[in-house]
Amino acid sequence: MTIVKAKDYTDLSRKAANIISAQIIMKPACVLGLATGSSPEGTYKQLIDWYQKGDLDFSQVTTVNLDEYRGLPPEHEQSYRYFMNKHLFDNVNIDKSRTFVPDGLADPVEGCKKYEEIIKSTGGIDLQLLGIGVNGHIGFNEPDVFFESETHCVDLTENTIEANRRFFNSKDEVPKQAYTVGLRTIMHAKRILVIASGENKADAVYNAVYGKITPEVPASILQLHNDVIIIADEAAAKKL
Ligand code: GLP
Repeated sequence: MTIVKAKDYTDLSRKAANIISAQIIMKPACVLGLATGSSPEGTYKQLIDWYQKGDLDFSQVTTVNLDEYRGLPPEHEQSYRYFMNKHLFDNVNIDKSRTFVPDGLADPVEGCKKYEEIIKSTGGIDLQLLGIGVNGHIGFNEPDVFFESETHCVDLTENTIEANRRFFNSKDEVPKQAYTVGLRTIMHAKRILVIASGENKADAVYNAVYGKITPEVPASILQLHNDVIIIADEAAAKKL
């Protein structure tokens, strides 16, 4: 694992965007695995900025997102498809038909199977961007998932529902389930880039890097991947 310490969120976002840019420059028709949440917002903003300056071209890029809330339609403001359109896709020259996000309205079995086939049909993820949940979850792979999981439907933990309620009017509105790409699929990405910001991520980052490799801390499986970069700002890297 390569650990990169960033000064703050802005620095972290620039560093992450630099790595993604390098990937696109080296392989214009690359496949990016993308994430949602507060962590990657700054990274996407930076990528948009460089695109607008003419330094980046997304025209051949394919993207596969990690997860989606079950039951939310794509036009719902808290759906991850909506997030991706707003924070990245609508602002760069990507071909939207090559941007994939799990369908929140799909049948849990058929929909997940189809999504896994889509990922396979892209030829594999070159660079997977990941945030990390306060309990060490990645995507929506909550503690105790099987390490070998592919795309599946999960029951969100109280902890995650609580952490994500800030985006909804009330806790009751937070969906209780989600579709997520599994750990097995994530581990197949050629390179993984994890970003973590803020003190509330310090334990998760520490456990992911130095903790026991256990399904109780889903991110700990990343210790077994041979090309992982973790960028953490000072607060998130506090315990390293
Ligand atoms: C959600 C997402 C994850 C994300 C995590 C952390 O649960 N499904 O992909 O990494 O939250 O989010 P944030 O970056 O907002 O802290």
